[in-house]
Order: sequence, then structure tokens, then C-alpha cells
Amino acid sequence: MNALASHAEQLVQQFNEYLEQTLNDTQTPATLLEAMRYSALADGKRVRPLLAYAAGNLFDTPPQAIHHAAAAVELIHCYSLIHDDLPAMDDDDLRRGRPTLHIAYDEAMAILAGDALQSSAFELLSDESNWPSAQHGLRATHLLAKAAGSVGMVGGQVLDIQAEGKKPSCDEIERMFLLKTGALIRVSAELGLCCCSAANDSDREAITAFGNAIGQAFQIQDDILDVVASSEDLGKPQGSDEARDKPNYALTFGMEFAQQRAKGLFEEAMSHLEPYGNKADALRWIANYIINRKK
Ligand code: IPE
Ligand code: IPE
Ligand code: MG
Ligand code: MG
Ligand code: MG
Repeated sequence: MNALASHAEQLVQQFNEYLEQTLNDTQTPATLLEAMRYSALADGKRVRPLLAYAAGNLFDTPPQAIHHAAAAVELIHCYSLIHDDLPAMDDDDLRRGRPTLHIAYDEAMAILAGDALQSSAFELLSDESNWPSAQHGLRATHLLAKAAGSVGMVGGQVLDIQAEGKKPSCDEIERMFLLKTGALIRVSAELGLCCCSAANDSDREAITAFGNAIGQAFQIQDDILDVVASSEDLGKPQGSDEARDKPNYALTFGMEFAQQRAKGLFEEAMSHLEPYGNKADALRWIANYIINRKK
């Protein structure tokens, strides 16, 4: 394993410990806390936290100064997965290698645990003691709210549902990807940068453009894997898109086109990192992982 891969593995371990300690408010009704932990502490790849740490690397900001931001975006992601799997949405029964939350508990608990994870994310970001200054926290809170909501993940999930059974154009499907998945991937890197006092507007522009490109590539790879991987490797049901007549990128435009497009978006993402030399190596590593991952 190369040095960047083993560093990422260590970061995931540190992140999991932080999340374990954070999701522990004993005033929470016991079943709700169990359900929140069941989903959030399951075996996810933690791509979004890794992006936040890697963006912090551009300015040598240590992981300890980024854990809260990494956790906030991961908690929003976990809530989005719980709701995405519900019968009213993708109706899937396997997630991160275990029964989905509405199967392990029930639908009401899945809806409410998702809601509570979302609130926990904003609790972390709006806690002044987590930031160098209140202004840093305010910027991050605003960015995550936008990325999670109607012009981000939730908006994209609506477009995704509306596209079921239809044949959207390439532009339409890519816009949907940019919202449903790209927004949270992008904001992961943006939140990492929010933890760096030295970052300026041109850094923010570069990281936003990087995040949008690699975020779209992330969902193209997810669609490719939905076709070619196994449920065992994915930890979620293979073929879910075809079964629900979802507009899967690889099935709609062909496997080769999908792979080429993911590569093109990766190159675009790389171009935005040029000014940063080897300080951006962690971001390059995770971008490369995103388009070459097998699960
Ligand atoms: C799955 O995300 C949902 C999408 C946005 C495609 P991940 O592939 O990052 O899932 P985990 O976090 O590793 O479970
Ligand atoms: C999900 O897209 C995007 C989210 C906002 C959760 P998918 O429906 O393709 O994600 P998976 O394949 O179930 O993880
Ligand atoms: Mg879905
Ligand atoms: Mg799904
Ligand atoms: Mg999918």
C-alpha cells in the first residue's frame, strides 16, 4: 500500500473514533440513539470526510481541526442514505453490508433517525467552540445547508425520482448527478477549506470547481458499479437501478461512454489542483480512488 493510501486508512480510523464519541448524547431516547449509531457507525467508505481532510492539507491544517466538519457532512450523507433506501424512494433492503434501517427497525424510526442525524450535523457546525472564529462556522453552516437542501442533495433526489421510467438527456442526468451527489461531495472539500484561515476566494473557487467535477464522476462510477459489481462487494443491492427503472448512466449511454466521461471529469478536477503542487496530493489520491473504486 502506498503512503497516501495508508494515511487515508489512519484518517478513517481517527474519524470513526470521533464519530463514535460524538453520537453519544445520552439524553436521546435509547432506540433513536441506537438507530442513529446503527447507520452512521456502519462500514462506509468515508469518502466525504477524506475529502474534507485532504482539502485541509492544502494549508497544512491538521485533522483534529477538521473532524467536526468531516462528521457534519458524513452525518448528512448517512441521513440521505437512510431516506434513499425507504420504500417510498429506492426501496432497498441492504446498506453497508447490513439490513437497511427501515428493515432493522421500522419506517418511522428510519425517517426520524435520518431527521436527527441531519440536526446533529448542524449542531456540530454551529458550535462556535469547534472553529477558529464564529465567522468560519457561519460560512460552513451556510454552505452545508445549501448543499443538503433544495438546490443540492434533496433537489437532486426529487429530479431522480421524477426521472424514473423516463429517458433523460445526458445534460439532464448530469444536472441531476450534480445535485443529488455532487453537492455533498463538493461541500466536503469546501468544508475542509472552511477550516483553513489562510484560504482566499481563488482557493474557494478552485475547490468548488474541483468538487463539482469529481462529485459528478462519483455518481457515474456509482452507476457503473450498480451494473457490474456484486451486492457482496457493494454492501448494497446490485442492479437496484434497473429493477426500479432508474436512469442509470452506464445503461443509458453505454459502459464505455460512462467510463470515458468519468475520466474526463477526473481530468477536469485535476486541472483545478495545478496551483497547489504536492499539497494537493491527498485530493488527487481520493479523486483517483473515486473513479477507480470497486465498491
Ligand atoms: C453512496 O455513497 C450514495 C451515493 C451518493 C452514490 P457512498 O458510495 O459514498 O456510500 P458509503 O458512504 O461508502 O456507504
Ligand atoms: C443516491 O443515489 C444519492 C443520495 C443522495 C443518497 P443512489 O440511489 O444511486 O445511491 P445508492 O446506489 O442507493 O447508494
Ligand atoms: Mg436513489
Ligand atoms: Mg439508492
Ligand atoms: Mg446507486
